[in-house]
Amino acid sequence: MNIHQPIRPAKPAFLDGKAKKLLIGGKWVDAQSGKSFTTKNPATGEVLDAVAEGDAADIDLAVAAARRAFDGPWGRAKPAERQKLMLRIADLLEANIAEIALLDTLDMGMPLAFSNYVASGPVVATFRFCAGQAVAIHGETLYPSIPGDVLAYTLKEPIGVVGGIVPWNGPAFNATWKIAPALAAGCTLVLKVAEQASLTALRMAELCQEAGLPDGVLNVVTGYGETAGAALAAHRDVDKVSFTGSTETGRHIIRASAGNIKKLTLELGGKSPNIVFDDADLEQAVPGAAMAAFGNSGQVCLAGTRLFVQRGIYDEFTARVADFAKALVVGDPLDPATMIGPVVSEEQLDRISGYLAAGTAEGAEALAGGARLTEGALANGYYVPPTLFSGVRDDMTIAREEIFGPVISAMAFDDIDDVVQRANATDFGLASGVWTSNINVANKVSRRLRAGTVWVNGYSLMDPAVPFGGYKMSGYGKESGSAHIDEYLASKAVWINTL
Ligand code: NAI
Ligand code: MG
Repeated sequence: MNIHQPIRPAKPAFLDGKAKKLLIGGKWVDAQSGKSFTTKNPATGEVLDAVAEGDAADIDLAVAAARRAFDGPWGRAKPAERQKLMLRIADLLEANIAEIALLDTLDMGMPLAFSNYVASGPVVATFRFCAGQAVAIHGETLYPSIPGDVLAYTLKEPIGVVGGIVPWNGPAFNATWKIAPALAAGCTLVLKVAEQASLTALRMAELCQEAGLPDGVLNVVTGYGETAGAALAAHRDVDKVSFTGSTETGRHIIRASAGNIKKLTLELGGKSPNIVFDDADLEQAVPGAAMAAFGNSGQVCLAGTRLFVQRGIYDEFTARVADFAKALVVGDPLDPATMIGPVVSEEQLDRISGYLAAGTAEGAEALAGGARLTEGALANGYYVPPTLFSGVRDDMTIAREEIFGPVISAMAFDDIDDVVQRANATDFGLASGVWTSNINVANKVSRRLRAGTVWVNGYSLMDPAVPFGGYKMSGYGKESGSAHIDEYLASKAVWINTL
């Protein structure tokens, strides 16, 4: 392991030691209760800053501000005006990539190389893609067959006030996936960010204001899920909620939506299969399989955590993935050489440690990793090494539940029928991977997998043009692609009787 002192980027001016406020109706305000809570750097356990502890009272104010903004000029803004504004936001984000990335790294532990990639790539690209979509929204002209001179057309209208509830696993990106489509569609948004990592979204909101976003179009409330999140999910004047997070909390969101029959987009958990056939190009498949599960310390909804390897190459392949895992630099996320940073919090560390213990207790063997790292500088942070469990059975806890840590559960399979049946034998259906040099195998398996995404000879490929979303208990609705904007639009049929 490589533990040295890197050149540290200067602390962002945004972290000025003053408690961060809520953005409501264009004003930065304290929580009504006056309360705040601290947010920590998971690499060191040190407090970074305090943020306001919003709750139901603040959500009420934010929803009212969002409603006023929706009923005001923003609700009637021309698509081209929204596009222009979004392109300005994208330019400002691009000009501030280093700071956005650094806030993600400090607040949730994502290695700087990765947070820089996310901020400069997907974040900016999504704003620009959605800006393009804003001017491409259109309905249909229809010709009903009933008697008379009747014409009908559909109008696509913004759905109204949206609640966005996001997790901590990629603060800049998660905020982007709620803000950009909402603005493109002409909605207004109340964004409830994750209590573990609130800072990046607050800075992004400042940049949106600087770009000229009208007051109340974007409101950001920091606070806990059970209070602020639950209030937003249940609010009678919120037309739609877009939620990303655990399946368990997804169920709460569904129940809370019943009061006013809210529309929902749910991007929930996963336990995605990554399938390696014996004819795969192993030079690509070894790092591909490793990083499918270890990237961002496995704190990724789409992580390929169930590694199915065809029996003939199983021992060689798992040994090579284990060697790859051991060679990954684990450490200070500010060090540009670091590949694996800490996990986000002590709570997540404990949760992952529980799964590591369960894996061993149920009879799996850790070929790499297996327990928390506590050497030297790593002792104060929440570090879990990339772990590969071999000899996993389908019924083991580590093969069934989402761990959300850098952990692969490897299993051998015999043929297509065997692996497809086992890959699909899960409650989840978010993503999947297939590694083979045989186009017919790739094609057959892709069609039979019950998951919203299949990657062939690659993993984690994402692009604003391509829709993403789950089957089964991984949720419903799409993010990314033109379908993303559709989730924020209502369709109205207008009939014209031209008698
Ligand atoms: P979570 O799903 O509870 O939290 C996500 C967001 O929902 C946060 O903003 C939280 O404040 C909010 N929230 C929590 N309870 C709520 C409620 N009753 N009503 C409305 N909003 C609520 O996830 P958490 O607790 O951070 O992580 C626990 C586990 O969930 C992880 O270990 C992981 O397995 C899974 N998870 C999966 C994610 C994914 O993208 N697949 C993302 C985050 C967590
Ligand atoms: Mg939770």
